[in-house]
Amino acid sequence: MIEVSHLTRIFRTYKKQPGFWGGVKGLFKREYEETAAANDVSFSIAEGEFVGFLGPNGAGKTTTLKMLSGLIYPTSGTARVAGFDPTKRENAYRRIFALVMGQKNQLWWDLPAIESFNLLRAIYAIPPEQFKATLDELITLLDIGRKLNVMVRELSLGERMKMELIAALLHRPRVLFLDEPTIGLDVVSQKAVRQFLREYNRKRRVTILLTSHYMADIKELCERVIVIHKGRKIYDGALDRLETAGGARKKIITFVPGITATGAAGAAAFPDSWQSRYGTTTRSDDGKFTLSVAGENVVAVSQEILSAGPVADITIEDVPLEDVIAELFNAQA
Ligand SMILES: Nc1ncnc2c1ncn2[C@@H]1O[C@H](COP(=O)(O)OP(=O)(O)OP(=O)(O)O)[C@@H](O)[C@H]1O
Ligand SMILES: [Mg+2]
Repeated sequence: MIEVSHLTRIFRTYKKQPGFWGGVKGLFKREYEETAAANDVSFSIAEGEFVGFLGPNGAGKTTTLKMLSGLIYPTSGTARVAGFDPTKRENAYRRIFALVMGQKNQLWWDLPAIESFNLLRAIYAIPPEQFKATLDELITLLDIGRKLNVMVRELSLGERMKMELIAALLHRPRVLFLDEPTIGLDVVSQKAVRQFLREYNRKRRVTILLTSHYMADIKELCERVIVIHKGRKIYDGALDRLETAGGARKKIITFVPGITATGAAGAAAFPDSWQSRYGTTTRSDDGKFTLSVAGENVVAVSQEILSAGPVADITIEDVPLEDVIAELFNAQA
């Protein structure tokens, strides 16, 4: 459904010299800086897949989604979505995809949502029957019927995002690009949007590419993730394989009174051997030690800690996905 091949986008920005004379100099000799926002990115996504698109700020996610939507042109490389070349901006292509950006509004601010929907019905020439059926379905799924006649600027952020989703889906696109659709939403609204997206993806088999900085979104919705960093793809595969890429590690957090990391006088030293045998060890100011250990060592390490002294507290946690991904980025840096 989506075929991306060596997609590259270079942004050329004017580098202004500091100060007044720098500005004057710039009038005669401009210096440019080139950023590869997307650098030789290739992937393919099958119909009905729900793929997470991850990367830190500035990685090139939005740039890639904009190229797939035909909003900006690639510097080189190609993309095909449902057989269309987005750069051609054909009307037929507009009918089969939608782009939702959590940071931008597509709805008319001073109109009630229902009027924006009616305008979209006209723009896309959606048959009245189909329009009504689709709208009813979306309103029910998102539970937002009461607010249809409220001016969009008077809606809460969560309500507005629901309306944005309806607006994007009225013409029943087959491909959906979602750029941080849950940004700024409270936990309850985030959950509602997630639940909606999951149901909609299953029911209609729409292909979805989703970016989000909230790992809960990705974990709940996507089996597969594509990770980009500095414009380059660094991972493409199952989310659970990414999670275990950290070696299925666990975090042991312990508080042992009387043990210090440095072995201060009167207190037993935090054994250096733990560090060398079990990997990363950190100590917080309040005297907690955090060890990141391989899954198979958890029992042995816990026993060792328990026998080292009077343990006040010990907890064992999964290494959060955020940390695994951050390590992946660091490894690439
Ligand atoms: N119009 C533009 N002109 C110049 N540089 C740009 C432009 N748009 C994006 N960039 C640069 O391209 C890089 C990628 O930006 P992009 O918005 O795609 O990142 P992102 O992955 O969406 O980040 P975020 O998670 O913060 O939304 C950044 O370094 C950004 O500064
Ligand atoms: Mg972005």
